[in-house]
Amino acid sequence: FHSGYGETWAKAILIGEHSAVYGYPAVALPLHSLKMKAWATPNLSGRHELRALGFSGPLEESGERFAGIRRAVAVAEEFVSPRRWSAFTLVTEADFPAERGLGSSAAAAGAVIRAVLDAYGISATPQELFELTNRAEMVTHGHPSGLDSATTCSRNAVMLSAGRISQLSIQSSGVVIIADSGICGSTREAVGSVRSQYEQNKPRVDAILAELGTLGSQSVNDLQRGAIEDLGIHMNAAHILLAQLKVSDPTLNRLVSAAREAGALGAKMTGGGLGGCIVSLAADQNQADMIVRRLRQAGARGVWSHRIGAVA
Ligand code: MEV
Repeated sequence: FHSGYGETWAKAILIGEHSAVYGYPAVALPLHSLKMKAWATPNLSGRHELRALGFSGPLEESGERFAGIRRAVAVAEEFVSPRRWSAFTLVTEADFPAERGLGSSAAAAGAVIRAVLDAYGISATPQELFELTNRAEMVTHGHPSGLDSATTCSRNAVMLSAGRISQLSIQSSGVVIIADSGICGSTREAVGSVRSQYEQNKPRVDAILAELGTLGSQSVNDLQRGAIEDLGIHMNAAHILLAQLKVSDPTLNRLVSAAREAGALGAKMTGGGLGGCIVSLAADQNQADMIVRRLRQAGARGVWSHRIGAVA
């Protein structure tokens, strides 16, 4: 049998997590060095099998953690007609941890969808692949902004603006440094918490989300002008607002401070929060190396640096 293969990668939201869910402007970067790979091999057992992240067994018994992958297989199979195979063995392999705000659920869904379509020899347009991935992402927290689904398969930075997702061409140099707190964060929980705060005090919470949106559009402008210092200032401001939404936590705050002490132009939590990662910004590789060392000393579990504007 021909194995289908699909590949996507991690993402880091520069500015606009949470406010993106409400349609406000946001920017995210694909992290091309952190890959998610998936293989789909037809099998004759009559049931889908999954091997991923410490799980090996029937897909339907894979539990809550893999709900997005089950949905990804379902949407990919719906897309294919007629279907030649009744079951696949699905294998995923990631260079980056799950539940850390790096987009592993969208990346896994996107890779699995591509692998299943590849096994059938069927091609889909980028827009179709985005829509299939985002349908799988619904399982993760019900109302995804689409930022993760788009960025985890994009060659370029991605922006959400006027409710539309598009590619962003970047003039900036600069390096982002991502550091993992080692704490698992649930996007569903974080998005749900912001939603209930929003319902309890709409004027206050909407004002915070709108301000995050303003920072989102300013950061698009910063990236287009190559105004890296301004981008850092806007990232710092976004972290304060995210802390007001109570999606940051003490470990993330500590890593943010460590990055700033080591000379970062800006630092903030990234992704859903309540654990997960921070993203910080350096003007050049030398400064980035100092920040990387400092973040490791501060207890970060994984630290990755990535040139802004770098294309795989
Ligand atoms: C999660 O990476 C980003 C959130 O804004 C959710 C979303 O945009 O769908 C928290």
